[in-house]
Amino acid sequence: MGSNLLILIYLLASITFIIGLKMLSHPARARRGNLIAAAGMAAAIAGTVFLYKDEDGNALHNYAWIFGGLLIGAIAGTVAARKVKMTAMPEMVSLFNGMGGACAALIAIVEFGHLVHNLQSVSGLTAIDTTFRDGLKQHLLIIVAGLVIGSISFAGSMVAWAKLNGKIRDFVFKGQHLFNIALLLIIFLLAVYLTGWLPAGGVSLFYIILGLSLLYGVFFVMPIGGADMPVVISLLNSFTGVAAACGGFLYNNKAMLTGGILVGAAGTLLTILMCKAMNRSLMNVLIGSFGATDKSTGGGKKEQGNYKEISLSDAAMIMNYAHKIIIVPGYGLAVAQAQHTCHELEKILEAKGVEVTYAIHPVAGRMPGHMNVLLAEADVSYDKLQEMEQANEAFPATDVVLVLGANDVVNPAAKTDPTSPIYGMPILDVELAKAVIVNKRSMKPGYAGIENNLFFRPKTSMLFGDAKKVLQDLIGELKAL
Ligand code: TAP
Repeated sequence: MGSNLLILIYLLASITFIIGLKMLSHPARARRGNLIAAAGMAAAIAGTVFLYKDEDGNALHNYAWIFGGLLIGAIAGTVAARKVKMTAMPEMVSLFNGMGGACAALIAIVEFGHLVHNLQSVSGLTAIDTTFRDGLKQHLLIIVAGLVIGSISFAGSMVAWAKLNGKIRDFVFKGQHLFNIALLLIIFLLAVYLTGWLPAGGVSLFYIILGLSLLYGVFFVMPIGGADMPVVISLLNSFTGVAAACGGFLYNNKAMLTGGILVGAAGTLLTILMCKAMNRSLMNVLIGSFGATDKSTGGGKKEQGNYKEISLSDAAMIMNYAHKIIIVPGYGLAVAQAQHTCHELEKILEAKGVEVTYAIHPVAGRMPGHMNVLLAEADVSYDKLQEMEQANEAFPATDVVLVLGANDVVNPAAKTDPTSPIYGMPILDVELAKAVIVNKRSMKPGYAGIENNLFFRPKTSMLFGDAKKVLQDLIGELKAL
């Protein structure tokens, strides 16, 4: 009875994961989707803790450890999630993902210990019949897969986290990619040897594989450039999902299995979509060191000419008499935490009869959907957000484009300069509008580390300053008009 109920709970939990994931695809439903999936996960955990029985009919008993762990994890997770700034979100995702990878690797270590312990009661593997040997190999294969994938994901995510918050710098040595491939091959061959041949000394080999996998995780992420870090985190996220699915196989736990597979699939799809949005192949992201060591390549060092500045009052005047304005938000808007002020500006302009919409580039900011989440936080209506293709069609009929802390996503070099590292990335064609006002604090480049010729073009005027302050002042000017 207990076991049937548990299977039902796992089934329901799996359904909530799928519904939750589906609901995440729209900002209006994302929060609810998250809660639904979290409720399913809570039910699956509670079901496992109270209803699970092993093959001999024993229930779980070490409740102090279980609830102690749950409590510490829940408190740490809640505090971290409440305190994290929107701009530090990729770091937190990376850290949490690393914890998932570590869990999967720890499960593999514990289960390997059990396996070795059980085998010690059997007198020598050669005496064991073939069916038992085959079963053993399959079990060991899942353990080793969980170990390798989980520890690569853990080590890689920790490096990604430390790189994103500036604790460590990019590190590349000559021939590193070949070294990485060789290391991965060695791990693969050792894993095949261990699981296929069950050699004497297998315990030491298991821990050697663990050490090499951790090393590979570090060397895998080390050379990848800062701008590509979200793509790598998404890829590592899919690794963690697969590692967790291995745990689901080991424990015959359907919720863990579906959860792991969903994370693995979603992480892979997100990785592909991000690469597509930047017009880069995954291979190029992994070995290209884009945005890492050499930020001066392509488009960065050319003489760009003079730029033109605009005063606050002139900017307010132009916007006041415009019929249609498109706002292009970027990473700088998130840094300035100016989303609420931006929404206020939008309302004031609309009260003056100006049509205001937002153009959202798929990789604006530092994480997928960054701008959508940021503007949703300020209650900007979803139907005001235009996707890139839609916005590009709307620019020619637009009087003013206000670029707020965006840079790479409006850089024409992506279309015109084949030597530029962002060449081929689809961009927002803001120049098609009648006038472009760009707000940023200086002439410094964006994440790709390259100059932006848009700032030097005749239609563009620069409005320097912190986005929040500039928007507040613009609101003041507009109110006075
Ligand atoms: P960026 O190109 O990084 O430019 C942001 C600009 O904001 C900077 O040039 C900066 O100039 C300005 N800024 C910073 N703080 C500001 C403040 N307080 N007030 C006003 N301006 C401020 O941003 P983007 O256009 O959003 O492009 C995103 C980049 O990240 C792309 O290269 C993209 O490929 C990369 N990336 C994104 C993702 C995802 S999923 N979003 C994933 C991987 C890579 P100043 O310093 O002069 O102010």
